[in-house]
Amino acid sequence: MTRVNVTVNGRAREIDVEPAKLLVHAVREDLGLTGTHVGCLTGDCGACTVRIDGATVKSCSVLAVSAEGAQITTVEGLAGPGGLHPVQQAFWDEFGFQCGYCLPGMLLTACELLEDDPDPTDEAITLAVNGNLCRCTGYHAVKRSIRCAADRMREGS
Ligand code: FES
Ligand code: FES
Repeated sequence: MTRVNVTVNGRAREIDVEPAKLLVHAVREDLGLTGTHVGCLTGDCGACTVRIDGATVKSCSVLAVSAEGAQITTVEGLAGPGGLHPVQQAFWDEFGFQCGYCLPGMLLTACELLEDDPDPTDEAITLAVNGNLCRCTGYHAVKRSIRCAADRMREGS
């Protein structure tokens, strides 16, 4: 076992993991944050997306030990005391999900996009969610949700 110290959703955590354990499994099993989903385990679907030091990563492609010292954000870290994150609220309002399996990854990807580009073009939104596969919704609702979030966040609402 290897001791790994991380800050997860603003809280310092210490876990002991096998050297070959994937971060997605550590997040779910050792940190108890099951909002991060396991999909393909091959880096294709984006269901396991988390943010490490601000950048979205597919946590099935990262060893937990390599996250030593990192700041990790999972979907559980999005909502605040005032309620849902604006991106979560927009997905809710615009029906940007059905089964919700892809949703945590979509949300974190959308957050990263809107921090980098508060007024993305449709092409930029399409490109951003390129690595997040949804089997249910079709991407129109996802893109509409991200557009809605962008507009609201720029307006400060
Ligand atoms: S489970 Fe990580 S990309 Fe699919
Ligand atoms: S809402 Fe079901 S996979 Fe996207």
